[in-house]
Amino acid sequence: MGQAISDPPVSAVRYHEHTSHVRHRISPHSLDFSRYPAPFKTYEYQDRISLKQGNGTCQGRNKDGAFNDLDATVGQVLGGQTSCDESVDLETVSRILGLSYGVTLADRSRGLMFRSVPSAGGLYPCQMYLSVRKIDDIETGLYYCDTVQGFLGRINPRPLDTEIFFPYQDPAGVCLVITGIFYHSAWKYRERAFRYLLLDAGHLAEAVVQAARAVGVRARIKYDFNDPCLIQGLNLNDSLEVPLACVSLGPGIAPGPESDLKPFHPAKSGPEPAGTVIYDILKEAYQAGISIAQSPAVDWDTQVFNRKPDRMQPVPDPGPFETLSFFYAVTHRRSRRNFSSLNLTEPMWAAFLNRVFTRIFSGLDPDETGASATGFLEMAMISQNMEGLTPGLYSFSWDGATLACRQTRVLAGDLARVCLDQAWISRAAMNFLIVADLAAMESALGARGYRYVMMHAGRVGQRLYMAAQELGLGCCGIGAMYDKEAVALLGLNPGSVLLYAVSAGPVK
Ligand SMILES: Cc1cc2nc3c(=O)[nH]c(=O)nc-3n(C[C@H](O)[C@H](O)[C@H](O)COP(=O)(O)O)c2cc1C
Repeated sequence: MGQAISDPPVSAVRYHEHTSHVRHRISPHSLDFSRYPAPFKTYEYQDRISLKQGNGTCQGRNKDGAFNDLDATVGQVLGGQTSCDESVDLETVSRILGLSYGVTLADRSRGLMFRSVPSAGGLYPCQMYLSVRKIDDIETGLYYCDTVQGFLGRINPRPLDTEIFFPYQDPAGVCLVITGIFYHSAWKYRERAFRYLLLDAGHLAEAVVQAARAVGVRARIKYDFNDPCLIQGLNLNDSLEVPLACVSLGPGIAPGPESDLKPFHPAKSGPEPAGTVIYDILKEAYQAGISIAQSPAVDWDTQVFNRKPDRMQPVPDPGPFETLSFFYAVTHRRSRRNFSSLNLTEPMWAAFLNRVFTRIFSGLDPDETGASATGFLEMAMISQNMEGLTPGLYSFSWDGATLACRQTRVLAGDLARVCLDQAWISRAAMNFLIVADLAAMESALGARGYRYVMMHAGRVGQRLYMAAQELGLGCCGIGAMYDKEAVALLGLNPGSVLLYAVSAGPVK
């Protein structure tokens, strides 16, 4: 294993600053395809359970998606209008995993497999583990979820201890843990990889919540847990892979005595691929956020933009729209960047915004500090070719119901320049921006807050992708930007940064 040395980031603000892109100062880096990250982990499994086929992955799916017997539409799932009283069993677990992280496109000539969620660079650094305390048709234990080959592999007969989740123990019988492997993202993004891990984890956590809703299972994201205990419970080497988020599935169960559980006995994992480069800064950025703020002082009036809005206007009521099956949307979602200059009608963009913002952070546990981090975020958009809306920079009210015009001189072409000159951005009708006051966030929530805001940004990104898919629009995430230029372009207050941008609009 190689080692890349750097100054330790003592804080989230410092990590973000340290990994900023500066024009003409990005050091050259050639991608070494002989060290391309493996798409899944390997273990000497204690048992393997095949996932039920046809639940989202392209393996076993016939041309017309005949396995699709889900009624839910994208709009219902995003709006939280589905009932969530189904029990968790192998069938629902298979569907949730297939719809959230299944392989939906295989490019056999290049050996690439694309998943139902987008991922920076198509690298899929996130892994999923399933801790089962009680399901009728899955034996109690801890499983690695191999959604590429389509099975659950038992790696410990003992599930995770409920004490891992604090300050409130999790009563759910089933819990999915999302981790990130540093090198899988660092292969391309080097020291900036922790940003992408968190954005990807946010996309995936939101995809799990949406998939669970679509199959009628209750899901709750948990950002707060005892990191060292979870690392131990998953038997991870935290120089390589770390836990980022958990999603509890199903209704609570009465906690049984821990003594009934089998002893801790982890399966042997496969060897690390030769040539894995370790960037110390990634583990340090993660470790800076181990502690959870006890009583965070959240200022719900945080101002991210330095200019007062010129005017406010309500987002119009959306008209009725064709709906699209959630199953179809997930299995056909792709990043599409071939934006056209076609006008977006007002009912269309109103419907889009409505889908994205309705119940945007529902599924967050209100008792957790992760929920309070939303107070430091703002969502904005650079618009063009939108019927009835002057092109420019707008921010959204928290419920997405009101648009505040910040500047009419900031246009999509300016954003394209700031985002590493990616020209396609200049043609998108809507360029969404997720911005946060990192300095205020960190003084209230500590460095752990960085995880929350970045994963929230990823969650918003996933909603944008799904809403675009339903309305036949293109969509693509943008993690690459000259960070200081972005702050200057958007007129952000000191301490505030652009976390993530996502383009959407009509495509050719
Ligand atoms: C966090 C994140 C950042 C991304 N950044 C960029 C970007 O800067 N430029 C780009 O062209 N695509 C970007 N993408 C899109 C990915 O390249 C794309 O998701 C990946 O290649 C997989 O393809 P698919 O989305 O079509 O399945 C990003 C995606 C994510 C989730």
